[in-house]
Amino acid sequence: MKKIAFGCDHVGFLLKEDIVAHLLEQGIEVVDKGTWSGERTDYPLYASAVAGAVVSGEVEGGILICGTGVGISISANKFPGIRAVVCSEPYSAQLSRQHNNTNILAFGSRVVGLELAKMIVDSWLAGQFEGGRHQVRVEAISALEQPRI
Ligand code: RB5
Repeated sequence: MKKIAFGCDHVGFLLKEDIVAHLLEQGIEVVDKGTWSGERTDYPLYASAVAGAVVSGEVEGGILICGTGVGISISANKFPGIRAVVCSEPYSAQLSRQHNNTNILAFGSRVVGLELAKMIVDSWLAGQFEGGRHQVRVEAISALEQPRI
């Protein structure tokens, strides 16, 4: 991925700044959807901005940070077409790309430190969707987005 949208709430703000710098060092273009300070705010706003950018094709993927990564990933997953994963270790981050074709990575600034967060991000970015049997399952996930009685 060469262009990523980034979002966080006030709890994730400081970690976002460091991870954005880490991405820029690798030549990845970052679209910063906020928040831009430690002033208290609500994570669904930033999940929405990043998920919208992914669904519209403005960016190839997104990264989200809140305190745990939980609220912001749940919010992003409300958007049809979004497959957001919350990770606190690199293995699941990479496999979530290879098997689940995740298009948003989330983690918690209260859960992981900077160096572990960088490893999670790098593993997620390195993962390539394998298709094949996994494609069938991802399509089955998408089918769940259709209205059911
Ligand atoms: C904010 O206090 C906190 O609830 C939020 O950052 C996140 O952890 C929610 O899932």
